[in-house]
Amino acid sequence: MANNIVILYSSTDGQTLKICQKINSQLVLKGLTADLLSIDDNTANLTQYSLIIIGASIRYGVHHKKVIEFINNSKTILESTKTVFFSVNLVARKAEKNTPTTNPYVIKFFKNIDWKPTLVEVFAGKLDYKKYPFLDRKMIQLIMWITKGPTNTNTEIEYTDWKKVQSFSEKIIALT
Ligand SMILES: Cc1cc2nc3c(=O)[nH]c(=O)nc-3n(C[C@H](O)[C@H](O)[C@H](O)COP(=O)(O)O)c2cc1C
Repeated sequence: MANNIVILYSSTDGQTLKICQKINSQLVLKGLTADLLSIDDNTANLTQYSLIIIGASIRYGVHHKKVIEFINNSKTILESTKTVFFSVNLVARKAEKNTPTTNPYVIKFFKNIDWKPTLVEVFAGKLDYKKYPFLDRKMIQLIMWITKGPTNTNTEIEYTDWKKVQSFSEKIIALT
């Protein structure tokens, strides 16, 4: 039988994908299965799904334009089924900015898009200076300095709260 859940990810360095994989493994534990696809993969027939989950990371203040395009182009389908959205960014490492109503990127995203998912969440991502090309590394260092985060370029910290991912997965399972 075809899966009736799809998890669509927009991930540059892999952390959003890792969160999606964790959610998927939680679904499997409950006997559910999902198709895990890049948001770039336009071969998916979305009408077959009764639950659509979208996870997207932030780069320089915005989610990838493909995420916005996808949502705008799939309005009818997204309105006819249950949907879940989560954002991944480093600002969410701060307790006062780690909910959909306090994270500036999520607030701005939903101000500019005509879509109300059934469930929304935000997770802190990963900081891994060694992965970034020179200019990005300098920019992230500046952002970290401004936001009082680590500026040492040897730093590799996964800020993602996996317990929060787990309880989010449980909320998703409750929708099925
Ligand atoms: C080039 C670049 C720009 C980023 N810009 C932001 C930003 O503006 N705000 C923020 O909170 N996090 C920012 N981040 C942090 C990412 O959102 C974080 O590393 C996340 O885990 C990336 O997820 P991904 O691996 O799925 O792409 C940036 C990271 C990179 C590499």
